[in-house]
Amino acid sequence: MYRFDLIVRGGTIATASDVFRADIGIRNGRIAQIGEALTGDCEVIDASGKYVLPGGIDSHVHVSQPSGEGIVMADDFESGTLSALFGGNTTIMPFCLQEKGRPMREALTAYHKLAEGNCYTDVSFHLIVSDPTDSLLGQELPALAADGYSSFKVFMTYEDLRLSDAEILKTLDVARSTGATVMVHCENEDAIRFLIARHEAAGDVAPRAHASTRPVAVEREATHRALSLAEIVDVPIVIVHVSNGEAMEEIARARARGLKVVGETCPQYLVLTAEDLDGMDWEGAKFVCSPPPRDKAAQAECWRGIETGVFDLFSSDHCPFRYDDERGKRNPKGLASFRHIPNGIPGVETRLPILFSEGVMKGRIDLPRFVSLAATAHARTYGLYPEKGTIAIGSDADLAIWDPTEKRTIRHADLHDGADYSPYEGLEVTGWPTTVILGGRVMVRDNTLVGAKGDGTYRSARTRGAAPL
Ligand code: URP
Ligand code: ZN
Ligand code: ZN
Ligand code: ZN
Repeated sequence: MYRFDLIVRGGTIATASDVFRADIGIRNGRIAQIGEALTGDCEVIDASGKYVLPGGIDSHVHVSQPSGEGIVMADDFESGTLSALFGGNTTIMPFCLQEKGRPMREALTAYHKLAEGNCYTDVSFHLIVSDPTDSLLGQELPALAADGYSSFKVFMTYEDLRLSDAEILKTLDVARSTGATVMVHCENEDAIRFLIARHEAAGDVAPRAHASTRPVAVEREATHRALSLAEIVDVPIVIVHVSNGEAMEEIARARARGLKVVGETCPQYLVLTAEDLDGMDWEGAKFVCSPPPRDKAAQAECWRGIETGVFDLFSSDHCPFRYDDERGKRNPKGLASFRHIPNGIPGVETRLPILFSEGVMKGRIDLPRFVSLAATAHARTYGLYPEKGTIAIGSDADLAIWDPTEKRTIRHADLHDGADYSPYEGLEVTGWPTTVILGGRVMVRDNTLVGAKGDGTYRSARTRGAAPL
């Protein structure tokens, strides 16, 4: 008889391809057996009536990332991973930001130090290329990619981060030669600056102008350009946080031409609109993110992209700021113009309950599609599969046990992040991950934390070899 450390009994297991009833036997942090009537002298979790899914992987999360104007992010690795854990995640992928004029390694060392011993989930980093010098592109990035830091993010917007087309081409070329993956934030910075100047000149400085100065055309044009640059270099590409149908069409067209494209969307584009930026007394600042939420028609298009496969990844783009002190709304610069409001909203804990409730429970997607959008495609895209992202013998025992009958109204007071609000306050959801297991350790049992800070570890990715999904 096998010896197990833990058995999850009687649940309905779902992977990206199958749904079936079975027990899971866990040994040494990994899935050792999947079968009927497993027994052993160990803890047994009764999962009958529940769904047993791969732990969520949120591959787009910002924590402890320095942002412009000296504004501090509301989550560090401790609170960010705790919040992720309670939302059914066992791995998050935050961004390590290269400081301009400094080597990437320096940022990476500092970022590892912030994470070390502080995580409730596993973590794996993406690298933000902010200063693509010859030495970064020629030596540092290839060496880092070989060490398992094999996803880079580049920005076409933000004054302090944007790269030129020439710089993006060079970065894509490094990805091509190293098998790394490039994620692109697609918005046309020159067009945004033009519109900002126009709005400020007209005295239109409230948060809603953030959305008006980043219209769909700004995103569509940049998406088309990023796809074209990847086509020219002949390398796969990830288009992150897509907010609307026109940008989606660019992805679909590029695929039809033969380009390998991974598309990502986020909860804010399914349930928020630009009208949320209109809140009284600058409350709209709490919904400022880029690209901005759009309208009901764009929401429907994004659902269509989830249903039809334009989107492979559903990520939170969790990027939390507080508004109850001088760092946020009352920051005098932020009040002077929308231009100084930090971009980003929290959502790492609510990502999967929103997709489960609005997607699975409302019949838009089935459970395997949910699992793929929640975990499997993230692991495949970023080199963590099959250790992560599926339920299979030999995979890490990272599991989220979902109670599909649990009804909740999202309230920030019940969440675990470091922000002081949730953009989804009051949203009613059905289904919640009530027990979460990380590498065979029960971290959350029946909605109660039993794991410890430091149980999560750093997970190195393997270089994908230019073959996403
Ligand atoms: O507004 C956003 N999305 N903030 C986070 C940074 C980024 O662009 O992903
Ligand atoms: Zn971005
Ligand atoms: Zn305006
Ligand atoms: Zn982001």
